[in-house]
Amino acid sequence: MTNHQASGELAGKRALVTGGTKGIGAAVVACLLAQGAVVLTTARNRPAGMPDHAGFVVADVATADGCTALADAVLKRLGGIDIIVHVVGGSSASAGGFAKLDDAAWQRAMDLNLYAAVRLDRALLPSMLEQKSGVIIHVTSIQRVLPLHDATMAYAAAKAALGNYSKALSKEVSPKGIRVVRVSPG
Ligand SMILES: NC(=O)c1ccc[n+]([C@@H]2O[C@H](COP(=O)([O-])OP(=O)(O)OC[C@H]3O[C@@H](n4cnc5c(N)ncnc54)[C@H](OP(=O)(O)O)[C@@H]3O)[C@@H](O)[C@H]2O)c1
Repeated sequence: MTNHQASGELAGKRALVTGGTKGIGAAVVACLLAQGAVVLTTARNRPAGMPDHAGFVVADVATADGCTALADAVLKRLGGIDIIVHVVGGSSASAGGFAKLDDAAWQRAMDLNLYAAVRLDRALLPSMLEQKSGVIIHVTSIQRVLPLHDATMAYAAAKAALGNYSKALSKEVSPKGIRVVRVSPG
């Protein structure tokens, strides 16, 4: 993972990808780097062998403090932001339906799948608005519209909220030059 690409469709664009060390996030990071973007990614754990100079910040984005620290690092290290891809998300809830989901489980689902994006957008959008350009991508899930009840009821509800928030944000900031889109894998 290097940040030294000079050519490509996204040459010079500064990108943040949350949850970029595995799965979909790692693929998004590789794609952006291949197009010449300068990429910063984040996760709770630094992958083994990742060099210190790589564009990586350790942060738990399921917390307000983690989001603040990450947004500060983005602005300090990149000097602004052109692309945010909110990939982070998931569920660790137990199977068993509604009765197994206590308040803490619902809160965890919201913190990771909704508030991480809300908090990071709130911190980083002013920089995009100032430059009158930028792209924000929210990765939701097919469960946004086709929820499964056994272990992912709270996750599905949080993804639905993320999709709804994404649309509302798009209506607010697209006239100001910022494109906001949601993608629903599944
Ligand atoms: N995979 C699917 O089939 C599928 C289907 C529909 C939607 N999606 C959505 O697509 C996105 C990516 O899914 P995936 O399966 O590719 O993910 P994944 O393989 O589970 O990877 C999750 C990434 O997020 C990081 N992460 C997890 N919790 C974090 C936290 N609290 N703070 C910071 N980083 C955190 C992980 O690193 P650490 O563990 O080191 O923090 C890792 O880099 C998610 O939003 C998911 O809901 C996936």
